Amino acid sequence: MDRIVIRGGKPLWGRIPISGAKNAALTLLPCALLTDEPLTLRNLPRLADVDSFGHLLNQLGVSTTVEGARPDEFGRVMTLRASKLTSTVAPYDIVRKMRASILVLGPLVARAGQATVSLPGGCAIGMRPVDLHLKALEALGAELEIAAGYVKAVAPKGRLQGGTIRFPFVSVGATENALMAATLARGTTVIENAAREPEITDLAKCLIAMGARIEGLRTDTLTVEGVERLHGATYAVMPDRIEAGSYACAAGITGGSLELVGARKETMPSILSGLEDAGLLVEDTPDGVRVSADGALKPLSLSTAPYPAFPTDMQAQFMAMLTRADGTSLLTETIFENRYMHVPELNRMGADIEVRGRSAVVRGVDRLVGAPVMATDLRASMSLVLAGLAAEGETEVHRVYHLDRGYERLEEKLQAVGADIERAGGD
Ligand code: UD1
Repeated sequence: MDRIVIRGGKPLWGRIPISGAKNAALTLLPCALLTDEPLTLRNLPRLADVDSFGHLLNQLGVSTTVEGARPDEFGRVMTLRASKLTSTVAPYDIVRKMRASILVLGPLVARAGQATVSLPGGCAIGMRPVDLHLKALEALGAELEIAAGYVKAVAPKGRLQGGTIRFPFVSVGATENALMAATLARGTTVIENAAREPEITDLAKCLIAMGARIEGLRTDTLTVEGVERLHGATYAVMPDRIEAGSYACAAGITGGSLELVGARKETMPSILSGLEDAGLLVEDTPDGVRVSADGALKPLSLSTAPYPAFPTDMQAQFMAMLTRADGTSLLTETIFENRYMHVPELNRMGADIEVRGRSAVVRGVDRLVGAPVMATDLRASMSLVLAGLAAEGETEVHRVYHLDRGYERLEEKLQAVGADIERAGGD
């Protein structure tokens, strides 16, 4: 298995192009199930998860064609067409590997009147149940049956019925499933306490381009007027705010300056204010945002929470950066119960981090030292790459497949701004 080898200590300077957002792509792809006409998605990131989602859709009868896949280009264009669905089953084998597969549930029931989807089970960062996804479909009239690790959802008389969905707490995925399902339901659906992540707005905009009637974008109440059918559309995936934030932390931890080309400032308010609070300079540029070191890093107190608050998907990268701050930081994780697996690895590189329940106390250190490290999820892996970029000596990050799930051409992008980083074979 591949590993990433980094010889750290070089400040990074230059421009990094920001790819299409993984989490937006993973909810835009299943929109293809909602219509028999072609859906063309532009600016799709080249990521293992996007490929896996494409394969899942192929199994359901969706044809996919890819253009713009020239090796010198970032992103690509995919046209998906579900003229006729050939299956409504999302099997265990795929769902197990990619939790976002649950996002076919809503669109399948909405279009085909039924779906059978494997339950995802636990994952490295916590239990992550799907009860809210199922309750949302029930509120739209679906009848559910759970057996042998699968949920079967059936819409009586073949069509979902609009209704009120009130989420007890915010869930990105459940909001996405509910929104997609409601577009083809009979009558009006109101989704209360909806997630407000920019990826939800991206999804709503794509659905509107396909003919859906949705109001309340960017708010926590979405109102959907169901339509008889949706049509094809062309839609460009939003830039990845988490990728942009991760590279901003690379500028911070190495004492450099990076322009995040294509980054959309308005989608990352708490990430940018966190960077500023850590003492970094954040400037608008004609093409995006520039983040630059400006003296010593300052310690922070941060708590993860649903958008627009600080994202859980940036917690590990900020933690890596704050290991070099001038003082003690306190990070609190409120979304996932087991999202500190990078802590022991960062400590092996010389960091001083102590986990106390849901919080982590990060005492800034003068130096990090390269080491072989291994992570168990995507953002944790990125925190190790960041630490490696600042550490003395060589860092080897194992289990690169986690990074390939969410960072398009990581080594190429970092090499281009001066990092000594390469991919090597063998684990
Ligand atoms: C999405 C993102 C992920 C991000 C997360 C939170 C994708 C593909 N993934 O994940 O990168 O970290 O949002 O911003 O977009 N929960 C339940 N029952 C449910 C659903 C969720 O209890 O039915 C819990 C989860 O375990 C978690 C919390 O709700 O504790 C929030 O999870 P959710 O917002 O649903 O995350 P995902 O959509 O899985």
